[in-house]
Amino acid sequence: MEISEGVWPAVVLGGLPLLGLLFWWWNELRYVLPLKLQRSATGAKLPPGHMGFPFIGELLTFLWYFKFLRRPDEFINAKRAKYGDGVGMYRTHLFGSPSIITCFPAVNKFVFQSSDIFTLVWPSNDLLGRKSLFAVHGKSHERLKSYITKVINQPDALRGIALLVQPHMLASLESWAQKGRINAYDEVKKMTLENIGKLFLSLEAGPLLDTIDKLFGGLTDGLRAQPFNIPGTAFHHALQCRKKLEAIFGRELEKKKTQKKGLTNDLMDGLMQIRDDEGDKLSDQEVIDNIVSLVVGGYASTSLASMWAIYCLAKYPNVLEKLREENLAISRNKTADLITSEDVSKMKYTNMVVEETIRMANSAACIFRLATKETEYKGYKIPKGWNVILWVRYIHTDPNNFDDPMIFNPDRWNEPAKPGTYQVFGGGTRICAGNMLARMELAILLHHLSTKYKWELRNPNAEVVYLSFPKPADGVDIMFSKI
Ligand code: HEM
Repeated sequence: MEISEGVWPAVVLGGLPLLGLLFWWWNELRYVLPLKLQRSATGAKLPPGHMGFPFIGELLTFLWYFKFLRRPDEFINAKRAKYGDGVGMYRTHLFGSPSIITCFPAVNKFVFQSSDIFTLVWPSNDLLGRKSLFAVHGKSHERLKSYITKVINQPDALRGIALLVQPHMLASLESWAQKGRINAYDEVKKMTLENIGKLFLSLEAGPLLDTIDKLFGGLTDGLRAQPFNIPGTAFHHALQCRKKLEAIFGRELEKKKTQKKGLTNDLMDGLMQIRDDEGDKLSDQEVIDNIVSLVVGGYASTSLASMWAIYCLAKYPNVLEKLREENLAISRNKTADLITSEDVSKMKYTNMVVEETIRMANSAACIFRLATKETEYKGYKIPKGWNVILWVRYIHTDPNNFDDPMIFNPDRWNEPAKPGTYQVFGGGTRICAGNMLARMELAILLHHLSTKYKWELRNPNAEVVYLSFPKPADGVDIMFSKI
């Protein structure tokens, strides 16, 4: 049967909306319908939400709020308005997987603490290393974490690290003052990397550290990319960077063994020497993989927190004034320029500024887990094989958790935060391995900044961009000088 020419426009016009509807419901039919058809003995149902378009899911909505509107918290607020609060769980399809978003303290705590069900997975472990803390689970994770925290996060280790990082920090601040106008983000990154070089491998600034920096840039770009090892892809490039980093760290490790360079007391030495209760040591591969993990864990996060501290203190001079008062009092009682980790633990207001800075920085908007079996939480189902996206950013910006959350107010830490509302370092067994180190480094930076320098934002109204992490668009362009 022939369709006359005049009928085609009607077919197309009628077909397009149908196609649109099919597109809109495709993921719901593919992922949600089969689950709805299964009977649940307990009557648990999927959390409310929508799975978005085929393949991309809700990516466009996510980009709309994070990249175009630059109001990231509206992504969750829109869900709350549309589907109700419930227990803070929404279904979605995001970053390539069907997922459950969790955005209230109690449900996040449940996920963090059920590490036997919700595991940490990366698209590929080849980049971080199969023996890295990020890649291992269960008992192996427990063993490795106890090694690593002993070397970087416990009071004995922090005592040494405090003294090791300050000369570089002081030299960096001095050079900023000489330049006068600086991009704070670029400078704190440089300072953080130099400290990492010194702390992890006893490396001084120079061409090798510059190469390591470039290689880490390439490696981190590939971490969340689809693991297709095809020339030209971010993942392929990241694998090449990983190989080169492994060769550099392998050479450093050999040098330490053969030249008996073992007394530098850097992190690599620490990892090479430490023994567990049975007297066992880490293997060479474990040492190398974990140096890589620690740089990945500590470099960007510490740089961002330091940048936000500089930005927030410039915006809130009253806070800087109080900070300066406390830190000048500490300096007055000292003969040397350096402070100790014991000094840091006495600096009450400074430590409140640290917590508030890390809350506001929100460098990790989300934390990812994979549900390894079907689970229920308060009548809602989390299907096996789906991702759980713990939307920790929202926990820190929800007015139900923090009054006036977008105001930088260290005094709020005079009272402890409401239970479960401070998840900047994640939680459960996977809680950040460098959380105390990060806090101490930031406190030391605040000490030297506030007692010796002043600075001013050149663009106080610069917009904040949120991808791939939150940062004022100008990278915090400041005039910086000695007091
Ligand atoms: C302000 C700075 C920092 C922030 C906001 C931060 C945040 C985080 C977050 C959110 C996680 C994920 C936790 C989870 O999956 O539940 C994490 C894990 C981790 N962080 Fe940090 N971090 C910071 C600094 C550091 C530093 C300085 C180091 C080490 C030098 C470090 C090393 C690690 C490691 C190794 C893990 C993996 C822990 C595991 O899987 O058991 N982080 N961090």
